[in-house]
Amino acid sequence: MAKKVVHVVGTGTIGEPLIGLLADFRDALGIDEVTFHKRTPLLTDRSKVRNLIRRGARFVTDSKSFEGFREIGLDPELETHEALDNADVVIDCTPSGVGTSNKQEYYQRFSHNTLGFIAQGSEFGFGKPYARGINDAALVRGEDQYIHVVSCNTHNLSVLVETIALADGGPENFVSGRFVCIRRANDISQDTSFIPAPEVGSHKDRRFGTHHARDAWHLFNTLGLELDLYSSALKLNTQYMHTIWFSIIVRNKTTADDVVDRMRANDRVALTHKRSAGTVFSFGRDHGHYGRILNQTVVPHDTLTVREHDGGYEVVGFCFTPQDGNALLSSVAAACWFLDPETYEQRIQALGSLFFDEV
Ligand SMILES: NC(=O)c1ccc[n+]([C@@H]2O[C@H](COP(=O)([O-])OP(=O)(O)OC[C@H]3O[C@@H](n4cnc5c(N)ncnc54)[C@H](OP(=O)(O)O)[C@@H]3O)[C@@H](O)[C@H]2O)c1
Repeated sequence: MAKKVVHVVGTGTIGEPLIGLLADFRDALGIDEVTFHKRTPLLTDRSKVRNLIRRGARFVTDSKSFEGFREIGLDPELETHEALDNADVVIDCTPSGVGTSNKQEYYQRFSHNTLGFIAQGSEFGFGKPYARGINDAALVRGEDQYIHVVSCNTHNLSVLVETIALADGGPENFVSGRFVCIRRANDISQDTSFIPAPEVGSHKDRRFGTHHARDAWHLFNTLGLELDLYSSALKLNTQYMHTIWFSIIVRNKTTADDVVDRMRANDRVALTHKRSAGTVFSFGRDHGHYGRILNQTVVPHDTLTVREHDGGYEVVGFCFTPQDGNALLSSVAAACWFLDPETYEQRIQALGSLFFDEV
């Protein structure tokens, strides 16, 4: 039987942990080989490339960069085109816009012998939007070859809509969802883009406010739903976790205890008695996979409240976004789906120990 090969492009905030996760769990996930592409030979990045190779992943670069990597003591095993030609699934983890130009420049040339291509967060328009557990039913084998894993905050607001409204009577129960995404300025892996003070975002999208609600609308639309969603965003001068304030209005009578029960029943939702992004983040550092938990949201019990509103019920609260865990889970799930849609559900259960009921 042919080897099953997953190739990751980019070794940044998302690529680096994704390559490690795929390499560590490859047997259980049904993957024979993990390859990864790094573009720039940098002494500061040598340690991560060495460690990913040590964990079993094969290092790929462009032919023009072989010499540069050799000069810093790293030996690429494969060249970019060779790796793309070998791969069954390609997961693009490059910044905004690069995935789409990679699609035009490279991926379409290898679509005849590749099961599928996946891109991250900011690649709106790359392919069908996907978040693990939200719209798996919308994936169509033989039709979907390009999948866009939605951003971390989009995962979070979608799982809130799913648990608070849809899990209690389906789309008929949902009236509207409003969200304020309170984002960290940069990731602890990044030296740039820190800000000295909170910075508010504009509402560039007239209908949805920011891309978070827009992307969630498109995600649910793959299931035929048209939900009233609106989001705002601001950045805080922190490197820890994103935080979201939400207001979801439902038709059916509900209480905060009912909402907690529904959240407990969903393994992608974690509840917590902690109130700070720092302590929730720190739990991940101690109990996750190299610091990451794979839950799509962490909801502090005490912030949940319900009030009667215009003939319905408004559920209000705060939650934290395990930012890269979201994208990692959906990327692995989508890759496993491409490899074998019949068995992917069962294979991704291998990641079960990285989900927590309580943080
Ligand atoms: N950060 C998060 O928490 C998060 C969460 C969800 C989704 N996302 C999404 O994930 C994607 C990647 O974000 P990130 O934060 O991981 O980015 P990042 O940390 O800036 O890393 C970018 C990586 O892409 C590589 N790269 C850049 N341009 C390239 C090109 N033209 N060809 C090949 N490789 C290239 C860089 O390689 P070199 O360094 O070798 O040049 C680097 O390894 C974005 O779409 C983002 O929206 C991020």
